[in-house]
Amino acid sequence: MKILSIETSCDETAVAIVENGRKILTNRIYSQIDIHQKYGGVVPEIASRNHIVKLPYIIDEALAESQLTLADIDAIGVTNGPGLVGALLIGLSTAKAMAYSLGKPLIGVHHIEGHIAANFLQYPDLEPPFLTLVVSGGHSHLVLVEDFQTFKVLGRTIDDAAGEAFDKISRVLGLGYPGGPAIDLAAQNGNPAAIAFPRVMLDKNKFDFSFSGLKSAVLNYINGKKMKNEAIDPNDVAASFQMAVVEVLVRKTIACAEKIKIKTLCMAGGVSCNSLLRKMMTVAAEEAGITLCYPDPILCTDNAAMIGSMAYYNYINGGESDLSLNGIPGMKI
Ligand code: KG4
Ligand code: ZN
Repeated sequence: MKILSIETSCDETAVAIVENGRKILTNRIYSQIDIHQKYGGVVPEIASRNHIVKLPYIIDEALAESQLTLADIDAIGVTNGPGLVGALLIGLSTAKAMAYSLGKPLIGVHHIEGHIAANFLQYPDLEPPFLTLVVSGGHSHLVLVEDFQTFKVLGRTIDDAAGEAFDKISRVLGLGYPGGPAIDLAAQNGNPAAIAFPRVMLDKNKFDFSFSGLKSAVLNYINGKKMKNEAIDPNDVAASFQMAVVEVLVRKTIACAEKIKIKTLCMAGGVSCNSLLRKMMTVAAEEAGITLCYPDPILCTDNAAMIGSMAYYNYINGGESDLSLNGIPGMKI
């Protein structure tokens, strides 16, 4: 079954064609980062307008690259939430029009479930149950994937998402947008032990995260130095901040896996590209006897292939949508 999938929940205009939920035939991504960079973050209205302009071309590119025609496509998958409502509606309207005119099934996909499904593309034999750490610009969740349709949230951030914290700290350090890759890079030249930022572990028996206290601690450090006219080393701040985030993510995730006695752990979402997170989670998982999976960076950040994979599992489990499918900005997992 070949599914053409569309992802427009934020600032990537993405189209993919995925076969049977596991094989990528094409994965086209038009990133609007250059356009939003000068504003220091994504401007929703601008994102929507660019999706409208670019999406038809990206669909054509995807078909051309896979040497397929619309007649070869068996269904249309689309992200319908969570995300920016205007941006979601562009992808959704396009997907509905295609499904209706082609007489093919329409399948709505939850963006976060899509991020998790990126692991099915990277590891063709991966099957639930497994635990997933989903860390993106808007989410930090520990999700138990019991089967292809049952996702249980065991922990979540009570304030900022991990990616949001990376983006904010990068902005105040003047390292630019998106912040995650910029901090990752700066941290390679910094000392992670230079500044003792807090590790907020919250309740030991719970698996929730909190990053707003850490963010304030970094801002206070930078402001304190500025007031005293003392120089700061952005590389040291980046490295120390990154270590504080990653230590909490790794400790909480491994503790959660051990508590529920699960032996397979996946990572998903843009922050799972982070080099220190990958390194430290690999070591911790090995020590705990846990198999660790994480997709290539191109499948961790927003893309439509992950939506095509999840759409397949929704479809074969009776999850076909009808044309009343709506965009749900705050869609719960
Ligand atoms: O999953 P994603 O592409 O979009 C959302 O669904 O939010 O994640 C984007 C987030 C941004 O906050 C970005 O700064 C972060 O992922 N990110 C990283 C890295 N690469 C991207 N964070 C830390 N280290 C990275 N290397
Ligand atoms: Zn995402």
